[in-house]
Amino acid sequence: MNVLIIGSGVREHALALKISESKNCDQIYVSPGNGGTTSIAKNVILNLSEIDKITEFCNINSIDFVIVGPEQPLVDGLADHLRAKGIIVFGPNKKAAMIEGNKRFAKELMREFNIPTASFNSFSKNQYDEIINYLRNGKFPIVIKASGLAAGKGVIIAQTPEEAEQAITEMIKESKFGSASDEIVIEEFLEGEELSIFAITDGEDYVLLPASQDHKRIGEGDTGKNTGGMGAYAPLTFVNSEMIKEIEDFVVKPTLNGLLKKNSKFIGCLYCGLIITKERIKVIEFNCRFGDPETQVVLPLLEGDFLELLYSTAKGKINKESIKYNGGSAIGVVTVAGGYPDKYEKGNEISGLETINSENINIIHAGTVIKDGKLYTNGGRVLNIISYSKQNDLINNKTLVYTEIDKVKYKDIYYRKDIAYKQFNK
Ligand code: AMP
Ligand code: GLY
Repeated sequence: MNVLIIGSGVREHALALKISESKNCDQIYVSPGNGGTTSIAKNVILNLSEIDKITEFCNINSIDFVIVGPEQPLVDGLADHLRAKGIIVFGPNKKAAMIEGNKRFAKELMREFNIPTASFNSFSKNQYDEIINYLRNGKFPIVIKASGLAAGKGVIIAQTPEEAEQAITEMIKESKFGSASDEIVIEEFLEGEELSIFAITDGEDYVLLPASQDHKRIGEGDTGKNTGGMGAYAPLTFVNSEMIKEIEDFVVKPTLNGLLKKNSKFIGCLYCGLIITKERIKVIEFNCRFGDPETQVVLPLLEGDFLELLYSTAKGKINKESIKYNGGSAIGVVTVAGGYPDKYEKGNEISGLETINSENINIIHAGTVIKDGKLYTNGGRVLNIISYSKQNDLINNKTLVYTEIDKVKYKDIYYRKDIAYKQFNK
């Protein structure tokens, strides 16, 4: 089978790597890909707004299957356009992708179908005065979200009414997130441990992959600014089988059912961002695609044929037997450019990768580029080093990942030294 993966990030490299293990996989193309995908796939440049050219590319290269990685093309309707051309696609159509692309839609869906989540109110951008009034009577901290896609930056946790007012002013008067803040969701602040669960679904039936946990903050102990993700680990020992049942019964099943009832059948990876509050497990957010950096630690824990899982899902009847959890564990640590998530340099040469012991280690590229045979940094997040094992042994994973990551060299490299720390403190 020839597969085209759309996307350039670390997640798409991880997907390509896992798919390349399938006996049915012949050739993988990634568009646009990055410095890492070239080792297992062909990088191609396709303009996502030129559907006819993508279709032509698929015909010429006998592409059997397209996987759309990032949320933006899904929210823009790429899967609909390709399906209309007869191409088999993994990824939800435009309507179902609203579960990520329109937070107001997601919250209203949860309200309608009794899916536990933070209480909320939504507003449009011409309700500035009402919002300010509402906030004056609010309970702090309070969470303010741009309803549309804002590259992961559209959530502000305001500690005081002044901070909240400033956030609203930036969103409405200064259009900080462009049209993403045409609608605004204001919700209750929830406290508890966060976790991510991916449900691979054909819209009706589903398979849950092992639970994982992201580390969003730049600093150790979860301090400092938010980032695209500094590392992750899986599985989570604080998530037991009763919790998984609770997640299935109160989140996954009613959400898929609700989407079906709204004529928004979801085919793809439903990312459930959850929080274990004192009361019960609640939804923080849904995403319409695989998470990053969680995917990089979840996929090494699957045995079987991952390509068959995705392909059968995309064809409409998920083959639930195609993969299973192998009983193992994994930790992934992200290296970033000095200064990230603020201003940082690109174009610094990366060395040392060839000295990494590849046994039980994956080197996944985020922001890298190859020029004249040499590898350079090309983004804020640069590399993701993952150690994995077939036994559930996070202590060993941790020792291994930090031994190997130390061999990576480039100017002003930074990474967190405490990924999975909550697992060891419990
Ligand atoms: P989101 O973009 O919706 O994933 O939000 C980013 C992060 O903001 C989440 O991973 C949480 O850490 C935090 N967050 C979002 N909503 C809430 C909430 N209602 N209560 C507490 N934290 C939240
Ligand atoms: N790990 C957060 C996300 O993928 O959105």
